[in-house]
Amino acid sequence: MEKPYIFITRKLPEEVIAPLTEIGQVTMWPHEDVPVAREVLLAEAKKADALLTMLSDCIDREVMEAGTNLKVVANMAVGFDNIDVPVATEYGVAVCNTPDVLNNTTADLTFALLLATARRLVEAAEYMKAGEWKSWSPFLLAGTDVHHKTIGIVGLGKIGQAVAKRAKGFEMSILYHNRTRNEEAERQLGAVYCTFPELLQASDFVVCLTPLTAETRHLFNRQAFQLMKRSAIFINASRGAVVDEEALYEALVNGEIAGAGLDVFAEEPVDPSHPLLSLKNVVALPHIGSASKETRVKMMERSCRNIIAVLKGETPEALVNTEWLQHKRA
Ligand code: GLV
Ligand code: GLV
Repeated sequence: MEKPYIFITRKLPEEVIAPLTEIGQVTMWPHEDVPVAREVLLAEAKKADALLTMLSDCIDREVMEAGTNLKVVANMAVGFDNIDVPVATEYGVAVCNTPDVLNNTTADLTFALLLATARRLVEAAEYMKAGEWKSWSPFLLAGTDVHHKTIGIVGLGKIGQAVAKRAKGFEMSILYHNRTRNEEAERQLGAVYCTFPELLQASDFVVCLTPLTAETRHLFNRQAFQLMKRSAIFINASRGAVVDEEALYEALVNGEIAGAGLDVFAEEPVDPSHPLLSLKNVVALPHIGSASKETRVKMMERSCRNIIAVLKGETPEALVNTEWLQHKRA
């Protein structure tokens, strides 16, 4: 039997993808920091039994139509809003992701971003390196406390719960909003369920961890920012499009909220002229939530396991479209 053809849309370490080369013929896009060219993706999809994709790749109907042999798209991310999942299901293609392995790493970054924004760490570090420090002074770079404040987590999935654990260590009150209540998390973490408006009104830190879906697109709009405290700090570590960025910019400029820590943007990479980057009270990061070396390797390994399972006719560990089990491509 011919070996399956596997295309990886970014250069990954050979030793990490070795399990794929054992079972298939593997081709990789040769660059680590340049996304795959669209025409290359389409040409490779035509030949591929499996695609190992990044969150920056748009895997839409055109890709699925090109992929006449395609059986699995394994996204190296927990989020999968870059993939048209219903169309994949229609074509009998399994969609897989990498949950769990990144929960603590992403929660660490989310909390770091919260602390950095509250305590103005980036501003302070830039001030220091620019040689501007002339004297200690009582309110020099004074921020706001994190401990004993109220955190409101929107989207209390596994990453949200890992953030809540960290908040507990800072003796914070924990509010959350989610599609479904999680009574176990309420017992274990002392998290209190709120409606979305209640959470916005009561939180000192509003932390967005909800996945991007049709329902959550622009969930954080003008009205949402107006409901927040004027002292509130908004943190986003999920997807940029959950936020109406123009509304966020206005809320920050008009003093309707105090600051924002953003790891994600509606369009990535962000244009250097993006208005949010011009604000002192914004800490902006280049989508590095899960970016520890250990976790990125685990995400790669998990993606390889997802592909191998599907190509062997098994059910992958992390299947997004469970309907696929009834619609598998032969
Ligand atoms: C990162 O944003 C991911 O979805 O894994
Ligand atoms: C949205 O609030 C979710 O369920 O994650």
